[in-house]
Amino acid sequence: MKIIMLGAPGAGKGTQAKMIAEKYGIPHISTGDIFRANIKEGTPLGKEAKGYMDKGQLVPDELTVKILLDRVAKDDCKNGYVLDGFPRTIPQAEVLDKALTELNDKVDFAIDVDVPDENIVKRMGGRRACVTCGATYHIEHVPPKKEGICDKCGSELILRDDDKPETVQKRLSVYHEQTQPLIEYYTKKNILKTVDGTVDMMDVFKAITDILG
Ligand code: AP5
Ligand code: MG
Repeated sequence: MKIIMLGAPGAGKGTQAKMIAEKYGIPHISTGDIFRANIKEGTPLGKEAKGYMDKGQLVPDELTVKILLDRVAKDDCKNGYVLDGFPRTIPQAEVLDKALTELNDKVDFAIDVDVPDENIVKRMGGRRACVTCGATYHIEHVPPKKEGICDKCGSELILRDDDKPETVQKRLSVYHEQTQPLIEYYTKKNILKTVDGTVDMMDVFKAITDILG
């Protein structure tokens, strides 16, 4: 099963994608996580991506597409995957479709986790992310057992550099301009499913598993 998660920054794509990956035994592939891992390791890709991410802009398609196509060609993707944060532009979606068509394959579901902008800014300020394993928490909704420490690996939890309110506003406007058109793109392909992302995260997950079966 090949699934795409759509939704504004902070809508809960990552939260839901992790649960989907676990339930269906497929890898969770987040381009944002791949960039952050490269930033942490100080690779040339990380250095280039950081400049865009810290400003709330998208990393250019040429860089992003190559990374994604390399990742989905790996062995663990044979039975499918859940993409979180890719595609984010129409050209990215077209490249993915072309690559899949060449393999006689296609995307099965594009799930839009729908959350209005006013809820987003509040959510982002409360998010904390693990510097080591990428697990995410929320100081109100999903607090770690010990403040500032990851339950899973014991590392430090941080506020992401791009979660400052002014950068979140920029990411939202980039989302509306460049990513939201994908909703129409996947509607036309008859694979778009929308879920209400404002409800409790387990209820969002229930709505998604009702769709995926
Ligand atoms: P990326 O890492 O993908 O960030 P994003 O899309 O901005 O989304 P987030 O990760 O911020 O939010 P999310 O939807 O995953 O929400 P989460 O589950 O954490 O990308 C970062 C940057 O990388 C981009 O800005 C861009 O520069 C670059 N990039 C990445 N991919 C790219 C691409 N394809 N092309 C070009 N550039 C690219 O949830 C958010 C918070 O809310 C958490 O604290 C969570 O605990 C909480 N929460 C979740 N669900 C609920 C709920 N139902 N109720 C209450 N709280 C909830
Ligand atoms: Mg995410």
